[in-house]
Amino acid sequence: MKLAIGNDHAAVDLKFEIMEHLKSQGVEVVNVGTDTNERFNYPVAGYKVAKLVAAGEVDGGVLICGTGVGISLAANKVKGIRAAVCSEPYTAQLSKQHNNANIICFGARVVGPDLAKMIVDAWKDAEFQGGRHAERVGMIMEIERTGKLAEVDGE
Ligand code: RB5
Repeated sequence: MKLAIGNDHAAVDLKFEIMEHLKSQGVEVVNVGTDTNERFNYPVAGYKVAKLVAAGEVDGGVLICGTGVGISLAANKVKGIRAAVCSEPYTAQLSKQHNNANIICFGARVVGPDLAKMIVDAWKDAEFQGGRHAERVGMIMEIERTGKLAEVDGE
């Protein structure tokens, strides 16, 4: 498995911990975030990771800022991206099983390192269940693709 990881200045230490955690499991990690505590605009990392995921160059992405919110909003502006902010493993697991989230996001000011590792693993190790969930994810992508939803707006 190959994952891209990105972060802003609020999440440098946690990013390195997560990278080590992933590498210890044999995951290849592409780091496109900042490695220093200098102010760094989170949309840059969100966009870079999202582009790699959308292009299929990696199997998924991990994004970390102070809360996980700003960086997820940036990533979700890239077509094909479903970035989910999660603060606990249950939601992280379901974000893959039901929503096919291709990027997991969390906040370094919200979760500690051990919980963050559990969140990443719950998402990474889960599989999309398809079926009725595929129909709903398809509707999300229809909104992205067309700006409309046939079920609401008509054909
Ligand atoms: C940076 O101070 C902070 O705004 C950022 O890390 C993130 O929490 C934004 O959503």
